[in-house]
Amino acid sequence: MVDLVHSRFEVREGIGWFSFDRPKELNALNPKVFEDIATAVEHCEADPDVRALVLTGNRRAFAAGADIKHMASGDIHLAAELTRKSNSAQQVLSELSKPSIAAIAGYALGCGCELALCCDFRIAAENAVFGLPEIKLGIIPGGGGTQRLPRLIGLGAAVNMILSGDTINAQQALQTGLVHDVVPMDRLEEEAEKLAVRLSRRPVTALNAAKTATYAGTNMSLPDGLKLEWSLLCMLFGTEDQSEGMTAFIEKRQPNFTGR
Ligand code: COA
Repeated sequence: MVDLVHSRFEVREGIGWFSFDRPKELNALNPKVFEDIATAVEHCEADPDVRALVLTGNRRAFAAGADIKHMASGDIHLAAELTRKSNSAQQVLSELSKPSIAAIAGYALGCGCELALCCDFRIAAENAVFGLPEIKLGIIPGGGGTQRLPRLIGLGAAVNMILSGDTINAQQALQTGLVHDVVPMDRLEEEAEKLAVRLSRRPVTALNAAKTATYAGTNMSLPDGLKLEWSLLCMLFGTEDQSEGMTAFIEKRQPNFTGR
């Protein structure tokens, strides 16, 4: 089992469940939590039995941002150390070869929102609140918010959130494309699990290729992105899962993917 400090992690039927666990602080994120995330994600990457990851909090908060009490009297060195930890957690999460889902109830603010942006899917409970309120603290988002949010929801909507620091609710997040789905609170875990199970049945090498082509492609010119897509597609024709997927279609049966 993975040993964590301010979080919980368990694997249930091929799905890794990571939960923030600082309820009194609304799951505010400190360096230890970022280490917890990196540890859990690395475990998911290394364990072939884990096919998908779900990140979640509690009913009141996914995570209300970086721990302001930890930062309040900090200097440039503390900021550098904190962002180094948060960036490495975000890097392993955003580069995870398997699908990741943020299941968000309550506050997803600042770095909490930014961590959700590192996941492939975001499902929100009806009470979810999203925001990058850093500007109200005299700083700016430091966990990729100024970069990932505009790429996801467009410049106009992102600038509105980043410069105003104002929050948006779950329905507004759905309208802007920040989240994929809004569900009643009592169904949040169930819906995240359903999605994780559905994704975990997909062929892993093709999933990884799809993630690489899509995410890396957004940072490339169109010709370079098309070349990357082409080379990944050709590579997949060397996998048993490609043969199985197409044979299963022709034989009118469900494919049995093995990850080879
Ligand atoms: N860092 C440290 N502690 C935090 C926190 C954060 N980001 N967010 C909440 N907490 C703590 C509060 O200090 C409070 O602790 P206390 O009881 O010891 O005073 C506890 O969590 C509950 O928060 P509280 O503010 O009383 O709850 P609320 O329901 O009135 O408001 C929020 C909830 C999320 C709107 C409010 O806590 C808030 O604005 N938090 C900061 C969000 C933020 O700026 N995040 C970006 C940080 S870079």
